[in-house]
Amino acid sequence: MKLSFAVAASFIVTAVAAPADVTCPDAKAAVPLLRGYSRLNKDHFYVTSQEEMNAANGYALKQSPGRVFTTQVPGTVPLFRLRNAAGLDHLYTANETERDDSVANNGYVYEGVTAYIFPSQICDSRPLYRAYSPRESDHYYSSDSWEMGYLGDTYGSLMEGVTGYVL
Ligand SMILES: *[C@@H]1O[C@H](CO)[C@@H](O)[C@H](O)[C@H]1NC(C)=O
Repeated sequence: MKLSFAVAASFIVTAVAAPADVTCPDAKAAVPLLRGYSRLNKDHFYVTSQEEMNAANGYALKQSPGRVFTTQVPGTVPLFRLRNAAGLDHLYTANETERDDSVANNGYVYEGVTAYIFPSQICDSRPLYRAYSPRESDHYYSSDSWEMGYLGDTYGSLMEGVTGYVL
């Protein structure tokens, strides 16, 4: 009896976490998405490479918003990185249309794929929230909803929804 309950319970948990057509990647392959902030540029910058973060002068390391993949493992989509030269803003989106619109109409340069993330809340992932501060011309991202509220008050930000899901 105990065993069959455990099997039934684990089936329910599995069914919720991963629909039949989703194979979750090995979470151990995920690495922290590093987050840096430059007071001078008023810019948040996210990379998976510590060397690249070090090379970006003047960015202090802040709390990571979560773990991501460096290759396109099952169930993930690319997180695109763009930079606005004028406003010293880095923008990250998993939306190809927004990426292309930002280049065509908003003065952003496409800088490639930063990481791979989940497009929906599968495989025990959590939302990566996005906000924009017009005052600082700064897009930033966090999976900590308390921090999003705090930074939102500090920077006078607009909440811009969920960019994707991270571990
Ligand atoms: C993707 O971006 C475009 C342009 O910004 C927007 O109209 C569209 O609603 C976005 N799609 C999703 C799924 O958010």
